[in-house]
Amino acid sequence: MVNYIEAATAPSKNTGAIRLYGPDAFGSMRKACQLTARCLDELAGIVRPGITTNAIDRFVFEFGMDHGAYPATLNYRGYTKSTCTSINHVVCHGIPDDKPLKEGDIVNVDVTYSLDGWYGDSSRMYPVGEIKRAAERLLEVTYESLLRGIAVVKPGVRTGAIGQAIQTYAEAERCSVVRDFCGHGVGSIFHDSPNILHYGSASDGPEIREGMIFTIEPMINLGRQHVKVLADGWTAVTRDRSLSAQYEHTVGVTANGCEIFTLSPAGLDRPGLPSLSR
Ligand code: MF3
Ligand code: CO
Ligand code: CO
Repeated sequence: MVNYIEAATAPSKNTGAIRLYGPDAFGSMRKACQLTARCLDELAGIVRPGITTNAIDRFVFEFGMDHGAYPATLNYRGYTKSTCTSINHVVCHGIPDDKPLKEGDIVNVDVTYSLDGWYGDSSRMYPVGEIKRAAERLLEVTYESLLRGIAVVKPGVRTGAIGQAIQTYAEAERCSVVRDFCGHGVGSIFHDSPNILHYGSASDGPEIREGMIFTIEPMINLGRQHVKVLADGWTAVTRDRSLSAQYEHTVGVTANGCEIFTLSPAGLDRPGLPSLSR
């Protein structure tokens, strides 16, 4: 049985119940998420051939500190960095290190700031210099997958509608959807119920209600869907070493749709690709 609780009076841990947030929480989430979006905007001017992912990580840490925010991944379940940087065939949870990025790489940077106890979780793909047409197409398909998932969000439909929209589109584009990681409830907790799958059927999952806040963060591969986690315990890669991409937004459910809290104030939601009119 799914159950829904008013967030303001709920226990401060993930009990499996789905939190429903009010207008004050939406205001706080807008702030946390916009700080995350501004950091990702700044990175558009920083990611280039020769920069190391540790330098990106340092920037994310400093930007957070400068704005009174803590990077939620730092010391989270033993993870020791302020961001995840996932390059080429790395699907997610790539650990920043001292290896420089090179021309033609595609890298996902995933940032979650905690601001006044509210979590803003978002990630984007950054092309490093000139990239191949196949890589560019993967980025376009992956961002469009995210938008297709967001487009079906409204009270009364099940979370499975998001997965169905993403899977149907991505597979029609001859790409595959990673099954091993999912979106999640977010708000006053980093990873909360419910899980948001990026595949499946509109009849799956709990019903979406006004006041829910969650992420949608599809990982889409050019090759097959299967992944494995490396010996570091974090880095997830495609088994066939095909390119993988991911974009992530945090959204809040409104009376007739949803608000994207992590939209770029600069129109840089797809860095390196033409910005979409909205
Ligand atoms: N930000 C990631 C997400 O989208 C979570 C990263 S957890 C870490 O949910 F420990 F790997 F950093
Ligand atoms: Co997330
Ligand atoms: Co994230």
